[in-house]
Amino acid sequence: MSDPFDIVIFGGAGDLTHRKLLPALYRTVAEGKLPAGSRLIACCRNPADVAGYYERADEALREHLSEGEYRADCAEQFQQHLQPFELNITEANHCWQAMAELLDSEADRVRVYYLAIPPTLFGECCHHLHTFKLINRNSRVVVEKPLGYNATSANAINEEIARYFPESSIYRIDHYLGKETVQNLMALRFTNVIFEHLWDAKSIDHVQISISETVGLEGRAGFYNEAGALRDMVQNHLLQLLCLVAMESPHKMKASSIRAEKVKVLEALRPLRDEEVLRNTVRGQYVAGNHNGKLVPGYLEELGEAGSNTETFVALRAHIDNWRWARVPFYLRTGKRMKQRCAEIVIQYKEVSHRVYPQEAGPLTPNRLIIRLQPEESIQLTMMAKDLDTLDMRLQPATLNLNFSDTYKRFKSDAYKRLILDAVAANPSLFIHRDEVGHAWAWIDPIIDAWQKADEAPHLYRSGTWGPPESDELLAEDGSAWFNAGEHA
Ligand code: BG6
Repeated sequence: MSDPFDIVIFGGAGDLTHRKLLPALYRTVAEGKLPAGSRLIACCRNPADVAGYYERADEALREHLSEGEYRADCAEQFQQHLQPFELNITEANHCWQAMAELLDSEADRVRVYYLAIPPTLFGECCHHLHTFKLINRNSRVVVEKPLGYNATSANAINEEIARYFPESSIYRIDHYLGKETVQNLMALRFTNVIFEHLWDAKSIDHVQISISETVGLEGRAGFYNEAGALRDMVQNHLLQLLCLVAMESPHKMKASSIRAEKVKVLEALRPLRDEEVLRNTVRGQYVAGNHNGKLVPGYLEELGEAGSNTETFVALRAHIDNWRWARVPFYLRTGKRMKQRCAEIVIQYKEVSHRVYPQEAGPLTPNRLIIRLQPEESIQLTMMAKDLDTLDMRLQPATLNLNFSDTYKRFKSDAYKRLILDAVAANPSLFIHRDEVGHAWAWIDPIIDAWQKADEAPHLYRSGTWGPPESDELLAEDGSAWFNAGEHA
């Protein structure tokens, strides 16, 4: 185990802390990864939050840990590390001084400042950390999306943080990169020669990257209605997955090499402008529908406000203009209140160049590699084989299935746990570099501009479906179809 460290969470009573950070930190305790004496300092503005902190934190654990994970002895041990602390970020008062005294009592430790607060407060928070001399060479700052709502605002946020922290101490989280299965994607690509030779425009017809959710607004109406699915999911998670699928091999599994390769992919994304945006993207918004036999309300009802044109679904066609990917469409799709919760990458291979079997042998299905990131992590490769139940020469698709939850019985992914421990260990490989944020926005901004200019209402889709029909039409134009989890042979 490493030396003890301090994690200071700003926004200690907030939603992110309750839902993600406390469960992740509990897991580090349960797995014996939190060194004795480490402090988890949760800053809250409201004195009442400080007073009731332990009870509320315990409730959050019971609510957000998986079934059977909560253990009273572990929770007690976890609470010994936890220290609620009253602090109003925007006031340079005695509380900041008290924070300085608390941290300076262990001045040589690694300190991670986790900004689980709105980005509008990042600058002020970092400024006070600086003024009270709380930033030293062992300090790192962790920030969460949303990092701005366009390139300009993202740049302003990054500038503010950069005034106080060097880039090497800034850890920008995209929690998708912390998922074990997402790292497995790199392992699959860069350790298997069979894939490397079949990973380009010569063999691949198209790529689909899809993150579907069944949840709706989850109490985040204010944020979500301003952001929409493109900013909330595509600018970060989907583009990061696209980078991992499309990038060249880094020369080492080293943060700077991995990030450099991802930036090259983002730079090679073909820009979409005006008319092209309208031809290559589909915006949707859910209306009431059925989910698992239960009626769920539509977006506007959930929002409690008529007339919002915010998209809760996006499908789009992208191209990467380089040698490897010339003319291979990358279809990205994400939405709320869809039929199933699933994050999946589908590599659709081309047909064989020449058919040698007679028609009676049956149709040939081109190979397909499906990398499922959640909920049941698996890799499937569909290929053609002879039907062994008959003497006749009949062909049929067969699937090689590697199911990680079967193979790895102890497999339990918690992206936040992984990322927090990486930040402590000063390993930035799975965090986003400033340049990546800038390039991603540079590709997204013209799409938003074109949508705003066109001022069209989003296409409606019923909750519990795979999105509006226009999303299917987008692929049908190219002779393709979405692979919908659980609905294909
Ligand atoms: C977040 C988005 O970044 O990712 C949410 O803001 C979304 O809207 C969530 O629900 C999805 O994450 P996961 O890990 O549940 O797929």
